[in-house]
This record gives sequence, C-alpha cells and structure tokens, in this order.
Amino acid sequence: MSTTRPIVIGNWKMHGLSEHLAEIRLLTAMLDGVELRCDVAICPPATLLRVVAEALDGTRIAAGGQDCHFESEGAFTGDVSAVMLRDAGATYVILGHSERRQYHAETNALVRAKALSAHRAGVCPVVCIGESEDERLRGVTLDVIVRQLDESLPETASREPLIIAYEPVWAIGTGRTPTDDEIVEVHSAIRDELVRRLGHEAGMATRIVYGGSMKPANARAILALSDVDGGLVGQASLQAKDFLGIIAEFAPA
Ligand code: PGA
Repeated sequence: MSTTRPIVIGNWKMHGLSEHLAEIRLLTAMLDGVELRCDVAICPPATLLRVVAEALDGTRIAAGGQDCHFESEGAFTGDVSAVMLRDAGATYVILGHSERRQYHAETNALVRAKALSAHRAGVCPVVCIGESEDERLRGVTLDVIVRQLDESLPETASREPLIIAYEPVWAIGTGRTPTDDEIVEVHSAIRDELVRRLGHEAGMATRIVYGGSMKPANARAILALSDVDGGLVGQASLQAKDFLGIIAEFAPA
C-alpha cells in the first residue's frame, strides 16, 4: 500500500456539456459532511475544466485535465499545455491513457516528456499503463507493464508526486475486469519497479490506482486489494450517484 492517501479519479473522457455541471453540484452536495478517507478528483474535457474547477473550489474535490502537450506554449494548434491546465485550475493531468496511445499514437517517450512538463507546471501526472488483450493472452503482461513504466517515468518522479494508473486495455469500457489475483500481481510488480527506480520512500509514496470498468458493485473488492491505492473511473464517474458509490468505499462504516 502506498504511504499516501488513496485517490479516486473520475475521467469524463469526451463527455459533458455545460449542463453536466449539475452532476458536480449534486456530488458536492452529497459529500457535504461526509468524512472522506481518500482524495477525489474529476477530469472533465478541457472545455469544462475552468468551470468545473470553479464549481469545486472550496470543496475537497480537485479538478484535472485529460492530456497535455509536452511544451508549455508554442505553435501547436489545438493543443493545451500543462501550464494552461494549471492556470484553468487543474491539480492533476491524466497522461498516456490507452485511448491516447491508440488513437493518437502516443509513445512511452512522449508520455514521459508530457509527465515532465506536468511536473514543471506543478501538476501531478497520472501516468496510465496497461496491456492489451493479446498481450495478456500471450503471457507477456508483466514485461509490457514494466517496460511502459520504465520508459514513461520522468526523471522528476523521485521528487515530485506522480500517480500510476494500471488500466488493462481490454477492461476499459467493456464491463470486464481482471481477477483479484491478476490485479494484485500487476500492482505488486509496479510497486517493486517503482521502489527499484525511485528508491524506497518515493516508490512507496507513489499511488498505484486501478482503472477499467470500475463501478460501485465491484469497487469494494478491487479497492481492498493490496497495493491498490484507488481508482481511475470512466463511465461510472459521469453520474454523481455512481461516482459517490465508489468514493464511499473509503468512507468510514
Ligand atoms: P471505464 O474507463 O471505467 O469506463 O472502463 C476507465 C478509463 O478509461 O479510465
């Protein structure tokens, strides 16, 4: 288990118009007075980041981005930098999500450069790694994970906060999840590699969250597994009720 408080991060992906702010208001109202045993963040699309961050201001929920460029500014039409995310109110930024790796051909080296720019901007990177179904079937999951981790970690990772999200590609949006043993095996391999690369203190302080079809019905079992320090939640983060159902797994009984 990480020495840092667990965290549940909502990834809205390309969902959400202004009216979706109602879910933010609902969530903050439902959390009012509830003792939280985890950090919470919501990563809306860039168009909503500032208004979401403003709506969350003064609450215990942070806002984050879903991607950033590796430069802080420049002639990069359509891109957004980590400095801009920070300026709009982001505390976190999801990087190297498998949808970015798949549809935008993002490589480990690019993810690493983006993570470095996030650290420079004072934004905590949430670096996503995960095997494809084919890789799992071929028995190379741990090789793939350790390689992605090694190549995506910026040199600043030993002194700046960073979160690793283990998201098996085949579990994202499919309703399928790995077995408990499979999750534990990967998370413990990630922990070992983090400690080896960053040293004991930073390696243990780095949170390793699980992502892929997490919902209220399976969150308790997954979040209780060793070295699972929270979750990265897609579909179930869009509705306040579902997201709260996951966060509540950390609330005192
Ligand atoms: P999901 O997505 O919870 O909808 O499977 C998770 C993610 O892609 O971060």
